[in-house]
Amino acid sequence: MDPAKAPAASSVYGGVARYRRPVPRVTLRPFRADDLAVLDSSPQDADGLAFFGFRATNGFTRRYAENGLLSVDHGNLVVALDDAPVGDIGWFAVHNGPPAVARALNIGIELLPEHRGHGYGTIAQRLIADHLFSTTTIERLEASTDIDNIAEQHALANAGFTREGRLRHAWFRAGAWRDTILYSRLRNDPAPARTMPTATAD
Ligand SMILES: CC(C)(COP(=O)(O)OP(=O)(O)OC[C@H]1O[C@@H](n2cnc3c(N)ncnc32)[C@H](O)[C@@H]1OP(=O)(O)O)[C@@H](O)C(=O)NCCC(=O)NCCS
Repeated sequence: MDPAKAPAASSVYGGVARYRRPVPRVTLRPFRADDLAVLDSSPQDADGLAFFGFRATNGFTRRYAENGLLSVDHGNLVVALDDAPVGDIGWFAVHNGPPAVARALNIGIELLPEHRGHGYGTIAQRLIADHLFSTTTIERLEASTDIDNIAEQHALANAGFTREGRLRHAWFRAGAWRDTILYSRLRNDPAPARTMPTATAD
């Protein structure tokens, strides 16, 4: 098949062999200085489901100078496609009660607009779960998304997260209080069933 006519990666999770085309090599890696200009200047879509007002255009740069955007309670990694930045994915600590054992990590992701809808968000959220479960003792990962963010809800489900329920008026966005859907993935939850490319496949 003419590679130019090959279907988008999102439609070939189970069909990589069928089309014999390389799967995208999506990886997560720490920020580097050359990523900052790309990701700090990414478009800010006022109509987007993840828009909560304008963000500083030096936000990543500032935190990179402080700690490379990596700490136990708050971290961000680059979502890279063949090493080039296509977005960021991060975590922050949340507490479901006062004791230390009630701590969970909530993940969030934003891909550059031109890289959405190709399966990268699903892969990246699988990879962040693998990373956090293999490098920390965390038991519970959480993710919250707008009730209308269908792409993120599908991506989380495809990445092995379980839909737990609806949080009423959990955040204010676009001039109104919005309900969100809370997802979680526990350390011993079954791996996502769906066949899809892995980060290391060629
Ligand atoms: C949400 C986001 C991370 C999803 O990643 P993605 O790579 O675009 O999504 P994928 O290609 O992995 O697709 C995931 C699923 O969503 C579906 N999907 C993708 N784009 C969609 C859209 N615009 N509308 C509805 N469904 C969509 C896909 O069909 C797939 O579902 P399926 O496999 O069950 O058919 C990405 O689109 C993004 O960064 N959006 C802007 C920021 C954002 O919303 N972040 C989350 C904030 S809580």
